[in-house]
Amino acid sequence: MVRFDDEHWDAYNARQGTRPVRDLCRRLLGHAGPGAGRLALDVGAGAGVETAALVNHGWRVLAIDPAPSTVARVTAAVPRGHRHAIRVRRVGVGAALPLPDLDLVHASFALPFVPPEEFPAVWHGLRSALCPGGWCAVTFFGRRDQWAAEPDLADRLTFHDRATVEELFAGWEDVDVTEHEADGPSFGGPKRWHTIEVVARRPASGQDPADTR
Ligand SMILES: C[S@@+](CC[C@H](N)C(=O)[O-])C[C@H]1O[C@@H](n2cnc3c(N)ncnc32)[C@H](O)[C@@H]1O
Repeated sequence: MVRFDDEHWDAYNARQGTRPVRDLCRRLLGHAGPGAGRLALDVGAGAGVETAALVNHGWRVLAIDPAPSTVARVTAAVPRGHRHAIRVRRVGVGAALPLPDLDLVHASFALPFVPPEEFPAVWHGLRSALCPGGWCAVTFFGRRDQWAAEPDLADRLTFHDRATVEELFAGWEDVDVTEHEADGPSFGGPKRWHTIEVVARRPASGQDPADTR
């Protein structure tokens, strides 16, 4: 059984620094365009690979992750001359609420590790921090993911089916949902993966029924 504790995440993130930028982040950057100094949030920033990619595209980035080596690891991933553009906090997303106004949210393989009882407040906090017209990209774990059937993980991780993911993005624009189900490697050994990835844009001001800003 995998234990998603501090030690696990530090060991995981130590192995991630040299991989390519995740496809979800590249697609997000393709939609959102150059940051031009706008503020992005990298949730569960891990090794900082995507934080660095965002900075390279002109974004200022608030990078958050509760793993112990977060500050050192994410800072090291960003070239020295660009470090003025990042703020790195060792904190889980729930404890980071309320968030500042954001123009982009990136959360690759991070939100599933938010406990289910915390998820609604986290989602509300992310959604309400994202400015109208801002872009968001998220990986969710589907209910047929192997970890959803493991007794010790089923209650501690957050899983979604496609319909509930689509509900989270009801009323958003340019919603692009990619569902993936396959056996594959993981840090803890081979497993059955079921992921649902979304790139979407929050509606412009005045067109979002849930707009409480
Ligand atoms: C599978 S890794 C993904 C890291 C990186 N985003 C990537 O794509 O490689 C999951 C990350 O989420 C972080 N994490 C766990 N619980 C979290 C929470 N409540 N809020 C934010 N990040 C969390 C872990 O510390 C870990 O770095």
